[in-house]
Amino acid sequence: MTPFDYLKKTKKKRMDELFTLLRFASVSAKSEHKKDVKACAVWVLDHLKKIGFKTELHATKGHPVVYAEYMVDKKLPTVLYYGHYDVQPPEPYELWKTEPFQPVIRSGYICARGATDDKGQLFTHVKGLEAIIKSTGTLPINVKMIVEGEEEVHSTNLPVFLRKNKKKLKADIAVISDSGQFSKTLPAVTFGLRGIASVEVFVYGPNRDVHSGSFGGAIANPVNVLCDMISRLHDKSGKITIPGFYQRAKKVSAWEKKQFKKLPFTQKAYMKGLNVSALQGEKGYTTFERTWSRPTLDVNGFTGGYQGEGAKTIIPSYASCKITMRLVPDMEPGDICDKIEKYLQRIAPKSVKVKVDKHGGAKGVVVPTDGPWLDAAAQAIKTGFGKVPVFMKEGGSIPVVVDFKEMLGMDTLLLGLGQCDDNAHSPNERFRVVDFERGCKMAAALPAELAKVGD
Ligand code: BES
Ligand code: MN
Ligand code: MN
Repeated sequence: MTPFDYLKKTKKKRMDELFTLLRFASVSAKSEHKKDVKACAVWVLDHLKKIGFKTELHATKGHPVVYAEYMVDKKLPTVLYYGHYDVQPPEPYELWKTEPFQPVIRSGYICARGATDDKGQLFTHVKGLEAIIKSTGTLPINVKMIVEGEEEVHSTNLPVFLRKNKKKLKADIAVISDSGQFSKTLPAVTFGLRGIASVEVFVYGPNRDVHSGSFGGAIANPVNVLCDMISRLHDKSGKITIPGFYQRAKKVSAWEKKQFKKLPFTQKAYMKGLNVSALQGEKGYTTFERTWSRPTLDVNGFTGGYQGEGAKTIIPSYASCKITMRLVPDMEPGDICDKIEKYLQRIAPKSVKVKVDKHGGAKGVVVPTDGPWLDAAAQAIKTGFGKVPVFMKEGGSIPVVVDFKEMLGMDTLLLGLGQCDDNAHSPNERFRVVDFERGCKMAAALPAELAKVGD
């Protein structure tokens, strides 16, 4: 029996197991889910143990890290797989067609929070490796695996784990499936991710909510002020106005521009997919350049005043918002957080107090676009998907990729399996059954290809 036969034979069971994994409400952002997060980690650990991995649960200051290894022979290449078992909060609940933590298959999609990001993608590798072990009795490479529970909250405690276990984690190459294919008909290898820097901004006005009739006109309204401050973070051409923001940003290279132009894209279809009638962004750049290779700034949420039923005529006492900035190499999250804080304090009117909480983030990253590891990955993708992958970048962030490079001196193969309409982080998250199946096939083909690099 080949690994591919094994996958075919176990199709139903494999989906049942993925459903079990998806039923854990492993929302890392919320303390009320701490137990669910832990239970999910333990399930992943037990599952890997049953397949034949040596496993360890590593406690951190936050959620635990699952570590597993399957060591075969020192002479073989060692591959470090990474994935995350935590998920984004499911809210707003009312927009879900079915329960976020009760997976169902609907019109060819596995629907649940975490289906694509990242439980479904992670599971393709778990099942691909299992297929090889069960059908051949071993693996053609040494495998180490990290499955973390804090990716969606900036991987805050992962660097400590990595530093402590540097030796144990030593590998020749890392593999991560936590991003997308180019399209439903075109698989891809991702060669770059943006970084991220996060802040939360608080604007304080009067010491309590006050009657807007009695006080309106005499004092600053924190909501109005924060809106005004936010509006001053971009200029008319879509450039970010924070002094020094672009200082360390690498230019979009001619090679990248050329590469992006080769990818099939129409603005019309892009707009239709989002139901918007125009696009907006930094002048002088294409959509791919804007989302993959240029830094950006966005408000993720805004709080202030009264939004309950009916009317309430007040001037709110405070307002706040969460802002994230996507970074490109060689921007530093700490430096960018300092710069936005300084700028916001400078433009804040005297009539309010402004506080900026800096949450830091991760740097952007670019990985090699050629070499034997990449050829191996491309070959495995061809086996799984029947097509040679294209090169693309992604605008999202996976903090660990930079740590792998800087701390462990290792490059990463970013083999995304999702689609841009999988609704990651949105209501009705989903993962195509065919992408899961092809992903498992790719994952079952990958170790043999990677093994050849060591020959
Ligand atoms: N899987 C995503 C990263 C991603 C998103 C890659 C889109 C490619 C395309 C990951 O789970 C994620 O959401 N990362 C966060 C990181 C942040 C919380 C530090 C992100 O990008 O917002
Ligand atoms: Mn992810
Ligand atoms: Mn995510």
